[in-house]
Amino acid sequence: MSLALAPDQTRAETRARWASTLTLESPAPSEWGPIVWQWMHQHPDLNFDDGSATTQDVWLAGLAAEAAEGERTWGARSDGRPIGFLGMRPLSPRVWMSRGLCFCRSVHGTGLPHLATARALAEVFALGAEKVCAPYYAHNVRVGAFLRGLGAVEEGCLRGQVTQHGRPVDLKLVAIFAPGKG
Ligand SMILES: CC(C)(COP(=O)(O)OP(=O)(O)OC[C@H]1O[C@@H](n2cnc3c(N)ncnc32)[C@H](O)[C@@H]1OP(=O)(O)O)[C@@H](O)C(=O)NCCC(=O)NCCS
Repeated sequence: MSLALAPDQTRAETRARWASTLTLESPAPSEWGPIVWQWMHQHPDLNFDDGSATTQDVWLAGLAAEAAEGERTWGARSDGRPIGFLGMRPLSPRVWMSRGLCFCRSVHGTGLPHLATARALAEVFALGAEKVCAPYYAHNVRVGAFLRGLGAVEEGCLRGQVTQHGRPVDLKLVAIFAPGKG
């Protein structure tokens, strides 16, 4: 089944059609590690920098350590099929930090990533969070637009915060506020 946009469908129609197929579970199933690792390598420069884990085992060990410190993960499915992964952790009861999100390439542009992320954010806001910060590589203009579409506002720019292939890369920082906050 292809999730590609049909040319005669508006974005709203496509999003409505796929919305009914979406389910979200938290934590993401532990057996999803290999598939999430594979999705992240569909666009390595959008997901990894020179300080990132270089093997799946090291990345999984990091996830387990972060879960022990309170990080929450979500796994998204469409019609039961794994399509995406999100992580967020509390910095305080009021403020959470996005730790990354990645969806398989076949669902990009369908609206499923938007809907799944909106649902995960709603869960965090229901837990009492008022603000979720999200850093991203400044060159990843797609995720910047994606986050703005979820209501993100600019917080600032961390210049040369990380390196990729030995070159400094800026991080942009945005924040999404709970309804009525911010
Ligand atoms: C980032 C991600 C979740 C976005 O989901 P998506 O379904 O692909 O996003 P959309 O297609 O809704 O696009 C979001 C916005 O970016 C725009 N966009 C799409 N491709 C673009 C591109 N190549 N350049 C600039 N903008 C682009 C879209 O037009 C849309 O903007 P709009 O809402 O103002 O029209 C998804 O692409 C993904 O998983 N990417 C790989 C991993 C990644 O980058 N993770 C982020 C790490 S912080």
